[in-house]
Amino acid sequence: MSEGAVKKEEKPRKFQAIRGTRDLLPPETALWNRVEQTAREIFGTFGYGEIRPPIFEPTELFARSVGSRTDVVGKEMYTFNAAKELFTFENPSSNAPSPEAADNLGEFVYRIKDGFEKGDIPPTESNKQAVDSLLGKFSELVKVSQQLKPGFWQGSPPFLDAYTKLDAECRAIASKIRLGESISLRPEATASVCRAYIEHGMQQLPQPVKLYYMGPMFRRERPQKGRYRQFYQIGAEVLGGTDAPAIDAEVIEMVMTFFEKLELQGVQLDINSIGDRNCRPKYVELLRAELHKVKDKLGPDSQRRIDTNPLRVLDSKVKEEQSIIEKLPRIGDHLCKECADHYAAVKRELDLRGVKYRENWRLVRGLDYYMRTTFEITAQGLGSQDAVCGGGRYDGLVELLGGPLTKGIGFAIGEDRLILSLQESGKAPVALGRDVYIAWMGENARGTAVRAAKTLRNAGFSVELPPVEQKFGKALGQADKLGAKYALILGDNEVTSGEWTVKTLADGTQRKVSEQQLLDSLQKM
Ligand code: HAM
Repeated sequence: MSEGAVKKEEKPRKFQAIRGTRDLLPPETALWNRVEQTAREIFGTFGYGEIRPPIFEPTELFARSVGSRTDVVGKEMYTFNAAKELFTFENPSSNAPSPEAADNLGEFVYRIKDGFEKGDIPPTESNKQAVDSLLGKFSELVKVSQQLKPGFWQGSPPFLDAYTKLDAECRAIASKIRLGESISLRPEATASVCRAYIEHGMQQLPQPVKLYYMGPMFRRERPQKGRYRQFYQIGAEVLGGTDAPAIDAEVIEMVMTFFEKLELQGVQLDINSIGDRNCRPKYVELLRAELHKVKDKLGPDSQRRIDTNPLRVLDSKVKEEQSIIEKLPRIGDHLCKECADHYAAVKRELDLRGVKYRENWRLVRGLDYYMRTTFEITAQGLGSQDAVCGGGRYDGLVELLGGPLTKGIGFAIGEDRLILSLQESGKAPVALGRDVYIAWMGENARGTAVRAAKTLRNAGFSVELPPVEQKFGKALGQADKLGAKYALILGDNEVTSGEWTVKTLADGTQRKVSEQQLLDSLQKM
């Protein structure tokens, strides 16, 4: 039986979207589009241009920027190696000579050749030599196997020996091929934007470069309300130029303007400064020492974090730990002068822009690249996953990725959560209905209906033209279900007289219009 065929008794499998992923459907997608359109408009007014980076990148890009010990990179990435899959070599009967084993080996060798030609296997000189000699050995093996008479695979010992030897040689050569690097689906996009900034020499452009992006991100987290494995972000990054506090404030002002425009409810902005390379390490050591003193009173997660990432303990939501955390040393008291001045100036700049914020010394972010300004925004109706936006400054990141010393700051909005909050507060637009449903009957009316649909659509009306004729009663019922505003009724009478009927579905009133008057009359209604 061929692969994919289904046994008679078995019901065909019903597929479902993978856990943590979902389909976004109309009418909800209309809200997604409105949100994205608003982002484009608002970000445009602040001088940002769109960047569309790829969805997968070298794993190392994320490991180096986000940090290999963070949850996002250490535990949650979807990582694969395109070339590794070429190397799955099925050989049911070990490598004892058999027609199947020869077929399998042949398939394997040609997959490697194909992978090399397509660039999935890095085109190095040593790989080229390995692929060439693999092909050479395999054609020798084919010759030998042709001398083994069909059905006599267990006989002809000299040939069998030769075959076994060549098979082993092929495997040995294949094992020398150096595979391409590991790649990962992006868990976030800041790393990609910095990579692109360096790759395209954007430091040559007028600075700072202001970019925004939107699209899916991937994290293997435990799915729950507001937390998905494929989720969407709308983000922006400012790269290059100075680290003037006004830039931090303007970035935050832009997100707040966007949320205001969407009438997002219960918006709360928290800000903090987490210092820089000068002052943070000293603070982290102090914090670690203090945490060791209270270790026994902390839960297992926080205990583990004392050594791995003590700042994350401040993030803890565990009830029993709250009073302990409140007594820990605060970063604000340990910032170096430059960081303290910068933070104070950011706050002044926010005041100047009328942006309301709350200082939150416990706001640390889960990604390694941040320094100085960090911020998070929560909104209403989201339950425990209520952070709708997170961001901050990351001045050393471009340099860490091999680029020039570059200042950087940005944020990302969780679009799924933003939509959820808008829906919960009743800000979602109601389903978009059709403007006009064309109820037509009879062969004469068919052509007229097609023509009318074209005219109306050209004028921007949304039109439903049933593909087969329907009795008028059924057509009007259908028009109602689709939420159409008007039904254009075209029967033999209308077509002959040239007097078409337009019915307003809300109140049932009807009026007669000529073909020439149709547009005009609908536009005025
Ligand atoms: P992040 O805090 O990891 O930051 O993510 C930003 C936002 O993405 C979160 O506040 C949340 O709304 C949303 N989000 C994260 N994970 C999920 C998930 N599993 N399901 C649904 N929504 C989620 C970053 O990603 C940084 N790159 C932000 C940034 C840009 N910092 C500077 N520039």
